[in-house]
Amino acid sequence: MLIRPYDRVEDEASLFDMILQEGGGWSEYLGPSDRHRYATALASSTTYVAREDAVVCGYVRCRGDDGLGVYVHDLLVRRSHRGRHLGRALLDRVRADFGGQPVYVLSDVDAYYEGLGYPRAGSVFRVVDGTGGGG
Ligand SMILES: CC(C)(COP(=O)(O)OP(=O)(O)OC[C@H]1O[C@@H](n2cnc3c(N)ncnc32)[C@H](O)[C@@H]1OP(=O)(O)O)[C@@H](O)C(=O)NCCC(=O)NCCS
Repeated sequence: MLIRPYDRVEDEASLFDMILQEGGGWSEYLGPSDRHRYATALASSTTYVAREDAVVCGYVRCRGDDGLGVYVHDLLVRRSHRGRHLGRALLDRVRADFGGQPVYVLSDVDAYYEGLGYPRAGSVFRVVDGTGGGG
C-alpha cells in the first residue's frame, strides 16, 4: 500500500470510481458540473491517495490556512479496503506533512474520530444553503 500526493492524471478516474461505488451523500460530487468542480478542488487542495497497484483505495483532501491549521474536508476508504486502518494512515500522512500545525477534521462520522481518540473541537454551522453558483 502506497500513500502519496494525488496525481490528477494517474488517480482521477479510479478516485471517482470509488466515489461512485460509495454512493449516498458522496454522489453530490458526481453531477456533471459538480464532478468538474470537485476534480478542480481535488487538484488545488492538498490531497493524498492510498494506492494498491493501479487502484485508488482511499484518499484524504485537506486545505491549509497559511500555517494556522489544516482542515480535512474529505476522507474516504474504498469499501473493499476497510478494516485495515487506512483512514488513520491517511490522516497520519497529513499530520506528518504539516508538522506542528493543528489538524482539524470536518466530521460526518463523529464516532469514528472519537474511536481514534481525537478530541472534539467545536461544531460546524451552515450560514447559507448554497446552490453551487459562485462562478
Ligand atoms: C470512516 C472510514 C474512513 C474508516 O475507514 P478505515 O480506515 O477502513 O477504518 P477501519 O475500518 O480500519 O476502522 C478503524 C476503527 O474505526 C472504527 N470505525 C470504522 N468506521 C467507523 C464508523 N463509521 N463509526 C465508528 N467507528 C468506525 C472501526 O471499528 C475500527 O475500530 P477498531 O480499531 O477498534 O477495530 C471508512 O469507513 C469510510 O470511508 N467511510 C465512508 C466515508 C466516511 O464516513 N468518511 C469519514 C467522514 S468525513
